[in-house]
Amino acid sequence: MNTFHLNREMVRLVILQRIELLSLFTKKIRKLFGRYIFGNIIAKYFFNSGEIGKKYFYIMEEEFNTIKDHVNFDNKKILAIGGGMGGFESFLNKKFNNNFYSFVEKNFISKKVKYGWDNENKEAYNNLDLLKIFLLNNEMKESQFEIFDYDKDNLPIKNFDLIISLFSLDYHYDFNIYIEYFKKVSTKETKIIFDTIRPDHYLKVFKNIKILKNNENTIHKSKRIMCSEFIK
Ligand SMILES: C[S@@+](CC[C@H](N)C(=O)[O-])C[C@H]1O[C@@H](n2cnc3c(N)ncnc32)[C@H](O)[C@@H]1O
Repeated sequence: MNTFHLNREMVRLVILQRIELLSLFTKKIRKLFGRYIFGNIIAKYFFNSGEIGKKYFYIMEEEFNTIKDHVNFDNKKILAIGGGMGGFESFLNKKFNNNFYSFVEKNFISKKVKYGWDNENKEAYNNLDLLKIFLLNNEMKESQFEIFDYDKDNLPIKNFDLIISLFSLDYHYDFNIYIEYFKKVSTKETKIIFDTIRPDHYLKVFKNIKILKNNENTIHKSKRIMCSEFIK
């Protein structure tokens, strides 16, 4: 079925992670009540989880369409940085069911979500127990994934085929907090895909860069780029 199964708590989180799930009307309500009441009460109790599940699935399908011609997704080790509720990876798993996913995320929800550039990288909107339940409820097997808390855990050390971070790394916080780690867990062939507000900067960081998409209607104007092979 072309939908994701979400409970109320998950609905609240995906709405914070993907504000395009909100209609114009609900965006106005958010303005009226303020982000705190919206994020903690309205987002939890006043949305239809069936509708949000369908919309979330549709958005992830669209994301997949921006990338699918550039990457072979079959039988890969995939690292998701800031994957949110894991919708993109769950979508991938429905199509290619022999991948292994490592999720690195944060395990708290900021009191006031600002959606800006977060110099100190203190903002987050996730719950790793819910992420696990979401993945299991949406066809991923327990043997296919592992979840790491960015603030507490040692990050996984292995060679990944693909590192993906949609609207997270270098969109809300600095790529450099992961750069040394990425150098350890990538090879020349590893593809690194993320949405950045400063694409030109990466001409000095990677040997190969390709622009996959222009993000014009998002909070920050940004580009989705695919990179490989660190310079030096
Ligand atoms: C705008 S959401 C995008 C979620 C998901 N990638 C998507 O496209 O739906 C940004 C995510 O980055 C996470 N995040 C923030 N700082 C992070 C960090 N240092 N490492 C990993 N994830 C982080 C947040 O918790 C949040 O889930």
